[in-house]
Amino acid sequence: MKSATTPRSRPNSRLRWLVPAALIFLSLVPIIAGAGRITDLTGGHVTPDNARFFDSPVPVLIHIPAVTVYLVLGAFQFVPSLRRGKRGSPSWHKVAGRILAPTGLLAALSGLWMAIFYDLPPLDGTLLLVLRLVFGSAMAAFIVLGFIAVRRRNYVRHSEWMSRAYAIGIAQGTIVVVTIPWILLVGPVDELTRALLIGASWVLSLAVAEYFIHRRAQGPVPKPVPAVQLA
Ligand code: HEM
Repeated sequence: MKSATTPRSRPNSRLRWLVPAALIFLSLVPIIAGAGRITDLTGGHVTPDNARFFDSPVPVLIHIPAVTVYLVLGAFQFVPSLRRGKRGSPSWHKVAGRILAPTGLLAALSGLWMAIFYDLPPLDGTLLLVLRLVFGSAMAAFIVLGFIAVRRRNYVRHSEWMSRAYAIGIAQGTIVVVTIPWILLVGPVDELTRALLIGASWVLSLAVAEYFIHRRAQGPVPKPVPAVQLA
């Protein structure tokens, strides 16, 4: 019988760290863009391009730190070994989860606030507004459903809802992956193509999340984790 740490299984466990690494890599562009916007707000000048942020800075000053913490910390929630706590101490997953649920909600709600109340910049139209309302609300709803599931100790549903919420968040990084080939192959984006590409990023990220959720559901039934490990 193979032991739990055969040479064959070890690289596989190392590969699992590739998931957070890839997610953080995807997050880099929106995180850097956010840092640029905060720098602009704290020391820059008002221009027609950034006036909406100066007129109402609070939501964007909540949004950018919240999305940054959510994307970076959330990436590590996909490492299975971090879910197990030592006897008597809470696991990394649980401690991070207590930060992530409110942070994710703040990210989605501040995004919704800006979508509704900020003036639309030139390339943002009604279709993008509708998409932001749909996916922003879905992200908030999925986090609430994930929270309810974990309170009921339904860890499978918890993981599914939280993965979907994270997929909506990480789509801000997927936008670059989708938009750059479009610009190179087709040309500059306009209001309609920008909205469609951003919508496609959300759909693509959710499709990838659904694929992994489905694959996990097809896999071997996980052994019940002793309560002490989840504490
Ligand atoms: C969790 C992942 C998210 C990241 C990384 C992210 C990132 C950002 C960044 C960096 C900005 C500043 C853009 C700029 O300076 O021009 C921003 C603004 C904004 N975000 Fe998010 N965001 C996320 C989620 C969301 C969601 C789910 C919504 C949906 C409602 C949303 C709606 C908005 C809106 C409406 C603005 C203002 C856009 C503008 O007026 O130009 N964000 N976001």
